[in-house]
Amino acid sequence: MRAVGPISLVFLAAPAESAVLADLRLPRRTPAPSFPTKGVAQSSDAAFKAWPALNNETTRRAVNAGRRFRLHLDTNASRVVDPTVELFHGDSLMSRFAMAVATRRCIDRKEFFEACEFFAQVQGTLVADDGLLIDVACGHGLVGTLVALFKSKDFERVIIRDPRRPKAFDEVVSAAVEVAPWVSGRITYEQKKILPSDPLPRGGAAVVCVHGCKSLTDRIIAAAAEAEARSIALMPCCYPSDAAQAPTALVQSLGTPLASDVQRTYDLQMHGYEVRWKAIPQSITPMNRILLASRTSTSLASPAVASLAVASPASAPVMDLAAPVVPPPMPPRVDPAAPKSPMNARRNRVSSDFRPDALGGGSTEGTRW
Ligand SMILES: C[S@@+](CC[C@H](N)C(=O)[O-])C[C@H]1O[C@@H](n2cnc3c(N)ncnc32)[C@H](O)[C@@H]1O
Repeated sequence: MRAVGPISLVFLAAPAESAVLADLRLPRRTPAPSFPTKGVAQSSDAAFKAWPALNNETTRRAVNAGRRFRLHLDTNASRVVDPTVELFHGDSLMSRFAMAVATRRCIDRKEFFEACEFFAQVQGTLVADDGLLIDVACGHGLVGTLVALFKSKDFERVIIRDPRRPKAFDEVVSAAVEVAPWVSGRITYEQKKILPSDPLPRGGAAVVCVHGCKSLTDRIIAAAAEAEARSIALMPCCYPSDAAQAPTALVQSLGTPLASDVQRTYDLQMHGYEVRWKAIPQSITPMNRILLASRTSTSLASPAVASLAVASPASAPVMDLAAPVVPPPMPPRVDPAAPKSPMNARRNRVSSDFRPDALGGGSTEGTRW
């Protein structure tokens, strides 16, 4: 009879027996403690920054900001005021983009506000040496699109990389082009995975990822570091049970989510990044922690870097972001005959202008968007 080891025996045995065999061959141990998966120390909360009107709980509830509920405008004349129309009313670029997205009914409210708040938190720290932003595992591509809309001066090109290309992406880009023609031609969808065999472009790009599930976030960290990304912004989700290789003591004490992000912070630091943590409002998502990594310089010795430098498209305007945005003619968004709520003025002031490029790299606290 052919000699078989204990592991082979386990696989050769019938399913009912395999547990018994496995049990016989393993030293008896007390059951492993079940570690907290929610995190003893939860993420910090944060105020709404892109849409400050949502800091008002009544407004937030009225527009269902954190719900998986299609973003749309209720233009039914029988309703006095649609809170979403009120929120998006205004001439800022952000308001007009929001209107254009809502008109298309292409994504859920949660996704929209999540992407906007993530963008508002990270935009000042996103830096690239080659004018390239890569939005990985992005689905609808909203974050990359917001970068193309508001940071065209810093980012001439945006790559969206995800193996699945949802219909919503084309709608989101068409909404952006409708209100900001300079977005046209800047965004490329790469329908592929993050894989060691298919690395990210080298050259000091900025890499972002919102809710890369489980270990996908770790693979993105590895890929971005390998590509010498200049800055990385991640908002992890679905924390893996192995807690990104975090030490057991940290997992036991801090819980899986926090221990995972502590480990990721060390990983990023080992790769030469300085890391900060930020957050978006928990009312949008409890998976709201942002890991923001940047390095002061990259080694740009590789000749591949030069070939990646992208010339500014001739048609792309150099955005004077200090100048007021001149809105293109748009159909009226609200029935002018509809009575206006006295709260309109306050609620509608999402921002009188949305000019992140003009803000430089610093904090945007208290800044008009
Ligand atoms: C939870 S969704 C996040 C989508 C979007 N960022 C959001 O916040 O709504 C995860 C995304 O990761 C993508 N994905 C899965 N495996 C991937 C991989 N290996 N490389 C790149 N993207 C991947 C999926 O197609 C999906 O769109």
